[in-house]
Amino acid sequence: VADAAFDLKAHIRGIPDFPKPGILFYDISTLLRHGPAWKAAMDLLAERIRPARPTLLAGIESRGFLMAAPMALELGLGFIMLRKPRKLPGATIGYDYDLEYGTDRIEMQADAVKPGDRVVLLDDLLATGGTMAAGVELLRRGGAEVPMVATLIELTFLNGRARIDAPVETLVAYD
Ligand code: PRP
Ligand code: MG
Repeated sequence: VADAAFDLKAHIRGIPDFPKPGILFYDISTLLRHGPAWKAAMDLLAERIRPARPTLLAGIESRGFLMAAPMALELGLGFIMLRKPRKLPGATIGYDYDLEYGTDRIEMQADAVKPGDRVVLLDDLLATGGTMAAGVELLRRGGAEVPMVATLIELTFLNGRARIDAPVETLVAYD
């Protein structure tokens, strides 16, 4: 059962200078290896997601899968994978997006969503919002509605939510 007093930040570790000098990396490994804390976090996020009345969930490779698959079980829904390029078999559709230097791409199977699907998109962390914005675009190109996106962590100083054309739910913020 969700406990509003649960201190999620106590289970997330900040690791300085990873992957580059000057970057503080918020590491969810310590949360994932603590069963009751992970369950409490998923329960809290589930209560935020339910009002969006999703019919399907989606997760973004890799760490988004760690959110979306257990959340799908918790909500009794199916789950689809948005993956890095050339990982998915069969017909795929993709979306290319800009990074600070260069570009990146995510893909999903062409038949993964149908018009009328209400897909809530999950990831572990919202930073610049580029990954999440690309995921929303890809799902909409496939014909889905995206009534919400959700993450555990939001880096508010990067203002990623301004780039997301959907309501954004996050459990903890760092600035
Ligand atoms: C991280 C994180 C988010 C994304 C957030 O993924 O898991 O998916 O970056 O950044 P953004 O908001 O600036 O786009 P990463 O690419 O490190 O890969 P991983 O999930 O496979 O570890
Ligand atoms: Mg990721």
